[in-house]
Amino acid sequence: MADPKKLFIKTYGCQMNVYDSERMAETLGGEGYVQTDRAEDADMILLNTCHIREKAAEKVYSELGRFKPLKTAKPDLKIGVAGCVAQAEGAEIMRRQPMVDLVVGPQAYHRLPDLTAKAGTGAKALDTDFPEEDKFDHLMARPKAKRGPTAFLTVQEGCDKFCAFCVVPYTRGAEVSRPAARVLTEARDLVERGVREITLLGQNVNAYHGHAKGLAGLIWDLAEIDGLERIRFTTSHPNDMDDALIAAHGDCAKLMPYLHLPVQSGSDRILKAMNRKHSAESYLRLIERIRAARPDILLSGDFIVGFPGETDQDFADTMALVEAVQYGQAYSFKYSARPGTPAAEKEDVPAEIADARLQELQALLTRQQRAIQDAKVGTEAQVLFEKPGRLPGQMVGKSEHLHAVHVEAPNAARGDLVRVRIEESAANSLRGTLIHAA
Ligand code: 5AD
Ligand code: SF4
Repeated sequence: MADPKKLFIKTYGCQMNVYDSERMAETLGGEGYVQTDRAEDADMILLNTCHIREKAAEKVYSELGRFKPLKTAKPDLKIGVAGCVAQAEGAEIMRRQPMVDLVVGPQAYHRLPDLTAKAGTGAKALDTDFPEEDKFDHLMARPKAKRGPTAFLTVQEGCDKFCAFCVVPYTRGAEVSRPAARVLTEARDLVERGVREITLLGQNVNAYHGHAKGLAGLIWDLAEIDGLERIRFTTSHPNDMDDALIAAHGDCAKLMPYLHLPVQSGSDRILKAMNRKHSAESYLRLIERIRAARPDILLSGDFIVGFPGETDQDFADTMALVEAVQYGQAYSFKYSARPGTPAAEKEDVPAEIADARLQELQALLTRQQRAIQDAKVGTEAQVLFEKPGRLPGQMVGKSEHLHAVHVEAPNAARGDLVRVRIEESAANSLRGTLIHAA
């Protein structure tokens, strides 16, 4: 039998791309491809790309340049670009990088078998449609192989919010939810394969409407699955945090006390210009309600500094909001104009000013994250072991609050859920010791 063809996938950007890459690899598995983690060995290289910020898109072109010698050495090598850059740039990618054989947008992955067959004949294959059919229904059924204890599961895609800076509504299209029954079937299947924690994914996951009772209804149904111990979801919009979801954070034991709730700015003037449709005050009130339901919840956020028109006072308002919330995790970015978005028409804040603001904001966020992490020392946590640590006999996993915890546990295995006492806090992780049941 001929050696199987080898597939190298590189994933950029958000967790939805991680999930999509898994599904693409499984689908191409049906076409005889096995995955390799060495680009040099590959018969097909697929870049699953991100278009959210300028740097992310530029990285794709420089990465493609690096593959040129591989293609020269092996002319049969197929190079594909998937994901949001593929959607946004389409055939332009092949013009800029003629060695690219295949371009596929995020809603057309189920057509990969046809596209790779076409690329195999030496033709250029391009599909950036938003087809009527649900790609997940048409993707290859997931194989039954055993897998690790945590998994992503995409339940919602696209976004109807149209924040003035964001390309997502254009690259991923309108909000679409997968029906709850299909999500539940996939979740049961993952649990049978060893998964104990599922993170539900969506660009606006809390706008999920594939269940009559929304995302909270889906979470409660998932919580019924024996063997599924933990549920998380990301990423959410403040305006879609409904009462049932807030209540679930208090009442559903399997729903972990962690919430990524981007606010972007603390200035009402900028929030309006961003088309966020909420104010700093309404966000703070929402946080109060969430904390009333689940006092120990760890909050995470996204921030943009240097949005067009942002003044020193606007930035000071963002710093004040961050002080008021106290984030345990955060992602902050310098605004980058994205072609086709309304904000791209406006004049940028000078780069030095935006850089200085980003530094100041990141310093504050880092201090907050560290303080919240340090405060875990002396407390108990529940840790789901994901892999062996660097030291012999050590395992690493995540706490309920998504902190990485190193634990000495020579007899433990991946997937064990253990209670630990947190002993020490380091730069990016905690160290704990097992609490043995009496
Ligand atoms: N410039 C900078 N940051 C952006 N984000 C989205 N679009 C842009 C942009 N044009 C950030 C937002 C969003 C996160 C995923 O990326 O903070 O929540
Ligand atoms: Fe982009 Fe705003 Fe939609 Fe988030 S809510 S994906 S930032 S448009």
